[in-house]
Amino acid sequence: MPIVPIPSDLEPEAAQLWRDCGLTRPWNDPDADLARALGGPSSTVLAAVADGELRGTVMVGHDGHRGWVYYLAVQPDHRGNGIGRELMRAAESWLHGRGIPKLQLMVRADNTVVIEFYERMGYVDQQVTVLGRFLDEDLQALREQNSAQHPR
Ligand SMILES: CC(C)(COP(=O)(O)OP(=O)(O)OC[C@H]1O[C@@H](n2cnc3c(N)ncnc32)[C@H](O)[C@@H]1OP(=O)(O)O)[C@@H](O)C(=O)NCCC(=O)NCCS
Repeated sequence: MPIVPIPSDLEPEAAQLWRDCGLTRPWNDPDADLARALGGPSSTVLAAVADGELRGTVMVGHDGHRGWVYYLAVQPDHRGNGIGRELMRAAESWLHGRGIPKLQLMVRADNTVVIEFYERMGYVDQQVTVLGRFLDEDLQALREQNSAQHPR
């Protein structure tokens, strides 16, 4: 299946896919995230497209040191057909082609089912704790309000 930079007409579907897959939280704005990733030279969103339809996505980018992926998602009806693997390999190639030696990713603590998928792709627990805060005080307040519901 072709993995391509996301066609602009499929961008709204991508953001909806991320919502439907439970990848967003109240403080996430997937449309803004998508626009930001497409707006700079060090990130992009790749899409699996068949018959003009969006089958899956992955956001990939780098900070000049390491590569990261976000929003890996495959349409529920098309899972188990190797699309997730193809998307991850395409993200790896995108980074490798830019001289980035390592790809890492974050998995939410409540998304344990996906760990085995990543292990099959060759990824291993890096034994690090990720800390973060929003630089926008309103978003940080929203994050703190929801911390009981979404502790991570
Ligand atoms: C994770 C996800 C992208 C996998 O996509 P997919 O197209 O179904 O995956 P593939 O068919 O390419 O699977 C590749 C391998 O992983 C395995 N695998 C896939 N999902 C798995 C799961 N939930 N548990 C265990 N193994 C899994 C497959 O069996 C396959 O193994 P094999 O190649 O050894 O036979 C998809 O389940 C998804 O969109 N999940 C919801 C969104 C999400 O949680 N994204 C990750 C956020 S960190």
